[in-house]
Amino acid sequence: MKEEKCRIVENRNLNGTYYVMKIEAEAVASTAQPGNFVMLLTTSGTDPLLKRPFGIFRAEPPYIWLYYEVVGKGTSLMARMKSGDRTVVLGPLGNSFPLLQSRNVLLIAGGRGIAPVFYAAGWYNAANTVRLLYGARSKEDLNLLEEIEALGLDETLLYTDDGSAGKKGFLTEELGDIVRGRNIDATISCGPEAMFEAIFEKIGDNGIDNYISMEAFMGCGFGICHSCAVMSGDGTYKKVCKDGPVFRLEDIQWRR
Ligand SMILES: Cc1cc2nc3c(=O)[nH]c(=O)nc-3n(C[C@H](O)[C@H](O)[C@H](O)COP(=O)(O)OP(=O)(O)OC[C@H]3O[C@@H](n4cnc5c(N)ncnc54)[C@H](O)[C@@H]3O)c2cc1C
Ligand code: FES
Repeated sequence: MKEEKCRIVENRNLNGTYYVMKIEAEAVASTAQPGNFVMLLTTSGTDPLLKRPFGIFRAEPPYIWLYYEVVGKGTSLMARMKSGDRTVVLGPLGNSFPLLQSRNVLLIAGGRGIAPVFYAAGWYNAANTVRLLYGARSKEDLNLLEEIEALGLDETLLYTDDGSAGKKGFLTEELGDIVRGRNIDATISCGPEAMFEAIFEKIGDNGIDNYISMEAFMGCGFGICHSCAVMSGDGTYKKVCKDGPVFRLEDIQWRR
């Protein structure tokens, strides 16, 4: 982990609220692993004071890419950053996805959860059979389809809540059948907590390896402020920034 002064190379708007930011950050880019995240300073002023966490979407030294959704003050300021602007990133932070080989892997991405899943997809694709379930609220929220196509995965299934692209409905609706029908033996997912709860309900106890990458509110990003604590399956607290963001699905306490 290192705090690195960095340069925005490009900050591309994909549609109204989604952006891809390319950042020159040599030290982070050269040590990043799929699943890691960075804390990014979103202003040269003091509001917001705290850096914001983002999963690494792609890394090719000396560059990293972030895929982000504008939801509040920090991300609105990010959206105004231009090529040549300077900022600071802290990273790479957190643990990474497990190494998988010769497995039948199902990647599951809900909304902006595609960011770390995309990075993992390129990595896993070399030595595994890799399928992707990617769902979002609506067509406008289902981005990066050309980049996903270029990965050449074994299968990609798209879903939207309103049916404006792909199949209509939540991507978890057919999950049990897909896992059984394709002999999936490992899943890697990132998305909202409701998606993880549905995954737990559908495939939580069928004996396959399920890994998730979690989001949480973060103050520091490296284990000292306790703002990112989540309840684990054994009733103790885990810090998403340090113990995660990648966990085994069953290591977290979910509502059924
Ligand atoms: C490990 C990790 C990886 C992440 N990766 C990405 C990514 O790749 N792309 C991306 O767009 N976002 C990602 N996020 C979420 C991102 O950090 C937040 O959306 C961002 O911090 C919001 O900052 P803001 O100042 O714009 O919003 P704020 O003004 O702080 O909040 C605006 C709204 O967003 C909600 N919000 C803020 N933070 C979170 C959060 N962590 N989880 C859920 N809701 C939140 C608040 O409840 C509020 O409603 C990640 C978070 C974590 C912890
Ligand atoms: S964000 Fe501070 S302990 Fe996790």
